[in-house]
Amino acid sequence: MKASILIAESAQDAASWLREELRSWGLLVRSANSVDQLRTSVSTEPTDIVLLDTALSPDGWPELLDELHQVRHALAIVVASASPDVRTAVEAMRRGAFDYVQKPYDLSELQVILNRAVGLAKMHRELEALRRGQVKCAGLLGVSPAMAQVFAVVEKIARSPYTTVLITGESGTGKELVARAIHNASEGVSGPFVAISCTAFQETLLESELFGHERGAFTDARERKLGLFEVADGGTLFLDEIGDMDLKVQGKLLRALEEKAIRRVGGTQAIRINVRVIAATNRDLEHLVREGRFREDLYYRLRVVPIHLPPLRERVEDIPLLANEFLREFATQFGKAMQGFTPQAMEVLTSYPWPGNVRELRNVIERIVLLEECQWIDVPNLPRELLAHTGHASPREPLPGPLSDQALWRLPYREAKGRIIEDFERRYLIGLLHAHQGNVTRAAAAAGIPRGSLQRLLRKHGLRSETFRRDGNR
Ligand SMILES: Nc1ncnc2c1ncn2[C@@H]1O[C@H](COP(=O)(O)OP(=O)(O)OP(=O)(O)O)[C@@H](O)[C@H]1O
Ligand SMILES: [Mg+2]
Repeated sequence: MKASILIAESAQDAASWLREELRSWGLLVRSANSVDQLRTSVSTEPTDIVLLDTALSPDGWPELLDELHQVRHALAIVVASASPDVRTAVEAMRRGAFDYVQKPYDLSELQVILNRAVGLAKMHRELEALRRGQVKCAGLLGVSPAMAQVFAVVEKIARSPYTTVLITGESGTGKELVARAIHNASEGVSGPFVAISCTAFQETLLESELFGHERGAFTDARERKLGLFEVADGGTLFLDEIGDMDLKVQGKLLRALEEKAIRRVGGTQAIRINVRVIAATNRDLEHLVREGRFREDLYYRLRVVPIHLPPLRERVEDIPLLANEFLREFATQFGKAMQGFTPQAMEVLTSYPWPGNVRELRNVIERIVLLEECQWIDVPNLPRELLAHTGHASPREPLPGPLSDQALWRLPYREAKGRIIEDFERRYLIGLLHAHQGNVTRAAAAAGIPRGSLQRLLRKHGLRSETFRRDGNR
């Protein structure tokens, strides 16, 4: 890919011969002969290098340099000046110019400088591509249209490091992961990713947690304490469960966002902060606004860029990808040689409604990999709750073998005991119903337990009495 250079030069004739010359060096060349043209050109077209003649804006060029860098932070700006004043060169370098050249141009000198700038532009492009890859590598996976849209938005807001984002979605849909992906992908971010759950603190504690406090601000404030806004400076502050934030703290947060500054509790001095705030909630904020429990102005201030993560059951296309990825991850972790899922097992996975969303899917796969000994995960290897839901539990399916001792002791005691009991219950119920041909009343009498209890047990294990009738029709 050719590097593109913009010649910003007020003298028309100088610009035109330079254009030809630079083209012959293999560059994509455009030119601008006014500050306005330069601004528009840089912000609307891909530009790697700007050759900026100070004569284009004799007084304003230093600020122009800052402005251009803000539009494209990786832009290499070569400042050219006809005045042999060393202060111009110093000022240019101080403002982050890539280099400085004296006019009239010495072509061989210019060529050396531009070659270096092209090298830098290439490196920036590679970095950019890497970073884009990282959005996904941050572990965020998805092939559904909904996730494709999320990726596109993440990529866009990565370029504006202080835009506020509001992420909504049911529990376990990946809100925090998306927040981390935004942070990882963001340009020019030097600070950390700091997460706090607004649920975990009482009003006053949350306030001092976020904004810090001065010594003596309240009884327990023996020392000055930095708030998370200050800790996250230059990075991202992730406010989880924002719907639980108290109204007073909401007001303070709104002020911080609008002023880009905070005041510590008990402090008077405004402290400037450069932080991207990402808020998340699984509650219906609009509803909270209507009920007067969430400030409407803050709601609109937060949702400058809204991202909604639909529940997993509404993006079934993502399930095979996620399931296989989690399988690979846990198989490596536990040293198991599992290959994948049978089509029937995958059908169960994709028809289960996943109330706990991706988190639940991940946990289920972890459990299977830990407990089962098989090469291909098939229907009987899946947990009961999935089979129950999709009506797959039937006596015709082979029972999963008893837990190997090895698998057993890897589990916490309670869970291991629970598994054994579950295994026992299921085997007992299947045998019992089989013997009584699906007649629940007789089966309950024979087992010596109330009919209602037997029915509850059957439901728990996803067993249906009809499947045990002699004719065998499900
Ligand atoms: N798209 C995805 N790709 C890979 N892993 C995912 C994805 N979405 C979620 N996960 C995984 O699912 C689990 C839950 O995700 P996360 O903690 O981000 O959810 P959440 O929406 O913040 O949930 P909660 O509302 O309960 O806090 C994590 O282990 C996360 O890595
Ligand atoms: Mg979360």
